[in-house]
Amino acid sequence: MPERFPASLQQKIEDRLRYYEDLGIRLFYTDRGPGSVNFGAAEEVVSTPLHTPVFEETALPKTTPKPAPAKIASGAAHPPLVVPPAVPSLFETTEKVNDDTLLKIREDLGECTRCKLHKGRNKIVFGDGNPRAELVFVGEGPGADEDAQGLPFVGRAGKLLTQMIEAMGLQRKDVYICNVVKCRPPENRAPEKDEVQTCSPFLLRQLDAIAPKVIVCLGSVAAQTLLETNRGISHFRGEWLEFRGRKLMATYHPAYLLRNPSAKGEVWKDLQKVMAVLGLQGKKGSPAGKPS
Ligand code: URA
Repeated sequence: MPERFPASLQQKIEDRLRYYEDLGIRLFYTDRGPGSVNFGAAEEVVSTPLHTPVFEETALPKTTPKPAPAKIASGAAHPPLVVPPAVPSLFETTEKVNDDTLLKIREDLGECTRCKLHKGRNKIVFGDGNPRAELVFVGEGPGADEDAQGLPFVGRAGKLLTQMIEAMGLQRKDVYICNVVKCRPPENRAPEKDEVQTCSPFLLRQLDAIAPKVIVCLGSVAAQTLLETNRGISHFRGEWLEFRGRKLMATYHPAYLLRNPSAKGEVWKDLQKVMAVLGLQGKKGSPAGKPS
């Protein structure tokens, strides 16, 4: 790799590229010319504290505020996606990785020991559902029930998510459900930034392999991770955003709804926007379809 950065940054970049190569991500080895990859932005993600509780609405502390996520213009029948920033982030691909499959990603993940979360886990919770789903839900990380069963969203919050999916006129097997981290954080704490950084490349590969029409982020950890922002979810919840050329909507986490049932109406409005894009009518026999 020719030297075009200060030596310490050059070393970091080379280490990072080697790490991605280990994960099977090789697109970064294409030489796109000086300045075309925003390594600085990636470092900001790394330094963004993500251990704030998932439902905390305040922006995470940080010296330089990150920009608001790109919004999709409203009004048009098929609104154009906002053009991504000229300088892509380290995670961003310029080509579609269409030979990747969930099976291969699961194999690459293996019996993962890449971060400290593996020490306390019982089962890796990779993800579950339709590998060709048009709709993917992304949560934060497994809880106790998920850790025991190896499946995402099977506890109390999961039951509510299932009701929400069914109210949309779908079944769990129609959608794909996964998390930012695949091992249970101890005491159900939010995943820490190094854990998110280590695990999220697998999530990105899952999303690229599934290629859904819509991604719904459940809670701020999922939203802040995918959007690479430190802004509180309440600033952009319910808005159509763009993620690597796909539509993304952030809404409240079902666990938040269990504690704040009055927020269910807002989430239902968000899901109705998703239903409109996917051409879904909602559950038959229940005009409002709203989960109770
Ligand atoms: N909460 C999450 O974020 N993910 C799960 O899988 C379960 C609960």
